Amino acid sequence: MTELAASSADRTPVWQWPREGRIRPGSDEHRLLFCRMLLETFDPYKPAIIPWPTLAPDALARLTGLPFWDIAVETELHTSKNMQAIADTTRDPLIREAIALNAFEERRHKTVLENMIRFYGIAIEPDESFVPPPDPEWSYLCTGYGECFDSFFAFGLFRLAKDSGFFPPELIEVFEPVIQEEARHILFFVNWAVYAQAQRNVFVRPAFAGRRFAALATRAWKRMKFAKGGVGPKTGAGSELGKNNGAMTIEGRNFVAGGEPLTIKRFMKICLAENERRMARYDPRLVRPMAMPRLLRAAMPFLGLVK
Ligand SMILES: [Fe+2]
Ligand SMILES: [Fe+2]
Repeated sequence: MTELAASSADRTPVWQWPREGRIRPGSDEHRLLFCRMLLETFDPYKPAIIPWPTLAPDALARLTGLPFWDIAVETELHTSKNMQAIADTTRDPLIREAIALNAFEERRHKTVLENMIRFYGIAIEPDESFVPPPDPEWSYLCTGYGECFDSFFAFGLFRLAKDSGFFPPELIEVFEPVIQEEARHILFFVNWAVYAQAQRNVFVRPAFAGRRFAALATRAWKRMKFAKGGVGPKTGAGSELGKNNGAMTIEGRNFVAGGEPLTIKRFMKICLAENERRMARYDPRLVRPMAMPRLLRAAMPFLGLVK
């Protein structure tokens, strides 16, 4: 049984596995911990009954003017398909069930976005073509690390949008479960990666570690290229992230902050704080996604030099 309690800070449920004691990453207990976290924190909301709020003309113009809705729909589609592909090839029934749930939630994100786009009359042209990945594991590694980057920035951007009133509270409320689901997804993914590596024969572990690093590095590189104004190719595993959300959200910070321009350093501090707050809702024995927080903490002294 798990314990669902309300955190005093934000009244959101906190998931804690009642089994006590240390859990060794890569052990069978660890497998139970990260799979149960995802399965037991499932939020059964139904996109079809979301009450889309009527927006004032200025809020509607801000929403429809955002340039990334087609990319967002494409990303959810490709992420769900890549996740379903790895679920279909996973032998462990519990891990398969958890990844299939993740794929379902990505499809549901797409439905939420499509319903919103229809309701507010936003014009989009998503490219819905998809080539099944020849190597589902590599594709999942790319998709997972891509989500780690994108979600980290999305957490900060969402906080900014909430505080600045860029979106009305009713709309923020609708998207809150979607954003929190991304926190669960990246938490699950990094734990899966640690477990999958530990389960391999000691002689092939370095090869898997190399794949993890390569997937992380390619995702980071694509985001840096995008931040400089380039757009990555739209082919290959995890290709939906060639046009990515992470760097776009860095650029989008001034859109949603309203008023004073926001420095990159301040924005990164908000992302770090939000990342910590969202991750604090889950059992502390789970491995945390640390790529972005570590990178940013190291870069923090230099970020003051960037506008
Ligand atoms: Fe998603
Ligand atoms: Fe996700």
